[in-house]
Amino acid sequence: MGEGIQRSPNVVWHQSQVTRELREQQAGHRAAVLWFTGLSGAGKSTLAHAVEQRLHERGVRTYVIDGDNVRHGLCRDLGFGDADRVENIRRVAEVAGLFVQAGVLTLTAFISPFRRDRALARELLGADFIEIFCDTPLDVCEGRDVKGLYAKARAGEIPSFTGISSPYEAPDDAEIVVPTGSEPLADSVQRVMDWLIAKDLIQGDER
Ligand SMILES: Nc1ncnc2c1ncn2[C@@H]1O[C@H](COP(=O)(O)OP(=O)(O)O)[C@@H](O)[C@H]1O
Ligand SMILES: [Mg+2]
Repeated sequence: MGEGIQRSPNVVWHQSQVTRELREQQAGHRAAVLWFTGLSGAGKSTLAHAVEQRLHERGVRTYVIDGDNVRHGLCRDLGFGDADRVENIRRVAEVAGLFVQAGVLTLTAFISPFRRDRALARELLGADFIEIFCDTPLDVCEGRDVKGLYAKARAGEIPSFTGISSPYEAPDDAEIVVPTGSEPLADSVQRVMDWLIAKDLIQGDER
């Protein structure tokens, strides 16, 4: 991808009169990307959707972009080799950036195992990128084996499976670290909500 593609010199960015700031003012909350990362079965999708539900109940405009879902559409031409994983993350970061411009508090749930790929997303999204590490140890994820993928990976049926035959590079600069392997889901949800309130992305309870 990318190489050999010529951007037309005749494509000019068109500025909208309805700016992100106006959208945020109208909605009464900030837009950002909550980027959930962690092993398969760590709890990214479960936590992202549970947080979204809480936010939605408060009237916050939200959307979850889930790894498994984009593989059916936006990224269906991509595989799981190194180059395709990078392109997968790049596309998702770009799309998440568009959601942010639309004033949406966006949640993404991708394993995103490589530090340099998350760094690329951080670079593309700047201060809007909030990394949330679902810190569930491999043995707990494997014990859960929600989709039966670890059993298949151990049997050698899935090449390059993160945690088994491909590395997961844990973040050391995540904005939020959630012990999703050891605490109840409700506590993890509260942890994220508290952070969003503390950073003024959403309003607190006392309104
Ligand atoms: N604190 C927690 N946060 C998220 N998931 C949790 C938590 N505690 C237990 N779980 C369980 O862990 C599993 C996580 O699965 P899933 O969300 O599909 O993982 P992922 O999207 O990271 O692959 C679910 O069965 C969920 O109920
Ligand atoms: Mg998931």
